[in-house]
Amino acid sequence: MTTPMEKVLVTGGAGLIGIHVCRELLRRGIRPHLYDLPEQIARARGYLPEGAVAIGGSILDRAMLRDAIQGCQGVIHLAAYLGVRRTETNKLRCLHINIDGTQNIMECAVQDHISRLVFASSSEVYGEPAANPVDESVPTQGKTIYAVTKLAGEEMCKAYAQRYPFLQYTILRYFNTFGPYQVAQFVIPKFIRNVMQDKPPVIYGDGRQLRSYCYVEDTAWATVEALLREDTRHAVINVGNDRNRVSLTELARTIIRLAGKEADLEPVFQGRFANTDREALREVYTRYCDIARARELLDFNPRFSLEQGLRRVIEHGVFHPRWDGADLDYTLDDWLIWQRGQEEVQV
Ligand SMILES: NC(=O)c1ccc[n+]([C@@H]2O[C@H](COP(=O)([O-])OP(=O)(O)OC[C@H]3O[C@@H](n4cnc5c(N)ncnc54)[C@H](O)[C@@H]3O)[C@@H](O)[C@H]2O)c1
Repeated sequence: MTTPMEKVLVTGGAGLIGIHVCRELLRRGIRPHLYDLPEQIARARGYLPEGAVAIGGSILDRAMLRDAIQGCQGVIHLAAYLGVRRTETNKLRCLHINIDGTQNIMECAVQDHISRLVFASSSEVYGEPAANPVDESVPTQGKTIYAVTKLAGEEMCKAYAQRYPFLQYTILRYFNTFGPYQVAQFVIPKFIRNVMQDKPPVIYGDGRQLRSYCYVEDTAWATVEALLREDTRHAVINVGNDRNRVSLTELARTIIRLAGKEADLEPVFQGRFANTDREALREVYTRYCDIARARELLDFNPRFSLEQGLRRVIEHGVFHPRWDGADLDYTLDDWLIWQRGQEEVQV
């Protein structure tokens, strides 16, 4: 059974997963209200799907959110402060945006009598998992502030649904999604960018870190399916691709091969984490998903192999410039200040 919907609020709708979720909604005849930071909307303008209503604002701005949610029957809450270096160096901001922002979403959702909400959680909540492959019964033991904010978001879904029983939530724990438009700080865009510039991919640690990588169109499909299906009510579901399980070294070598640069490039190993955005105690060595529940509840059967997904990213060759170099830390206030500066220049 699925719930019919006409309009859905997608927070973080101009991000990697958000853009593809909006596309997937449109494909099914549902209009997304794409809500994201104004500067992110401006940056992603060329990639946003036609037909999505783009609304610039922060999830910290409850008044803006209230306007954006009006007329929607469901919410897909993807907006978050993420990224290894940013969340570790700006812990308070990470807590503020991810927890207070999520609470704002909950408040607006119940005020507007929204009945379906999908919350984007993360495999980070499992930390270095007690067992692999990781199914949803594996205990949560996140190592980071980011993981703590995702667990807080999950608990908030449960608490609000108890207090407001009309609100049905689904928690999705995403495992390493990748695709075009991903910020350059993550491993796949980093490796691809290096290789395309004839530089070797740099691996921190011994390269044996194991992950399962899911192409973004598969993640987006599962996300929309979770919103629409009634039997996902109050479920926690892993979303990933259990077939795309590789070590960092294999990943780097695959990218080199797909780019046709085997004769010229080899991954470079930096055994130590010093002077990098990684840290030995923060590092998770082996984490890959069991998606039996997603198969059962969503009929999820990821379509894209790692190679197919990587080829698309290589062909697309587009990454947002944000987080590059100076590691820009954007907020709505920063944008307003920046915009005022622009106006002053124009005058
Ligand atoms: N990509 C992955 O591998 C992965 C894994 C686990 C969980 N997740 C979760 O999935 C969600 C989407 O991730 P993504 O990979 O698309 O990342 P992304 O960075 O591409 O998208 C996040 C979006 O949130 C927006 N955002 C940040 N702060 C905001 C604010 N204050 N107000 C409004 N919007 C704000 C950003 O501008 C961005 O467009 C996030 O919640 C993330 O934690 C992603």
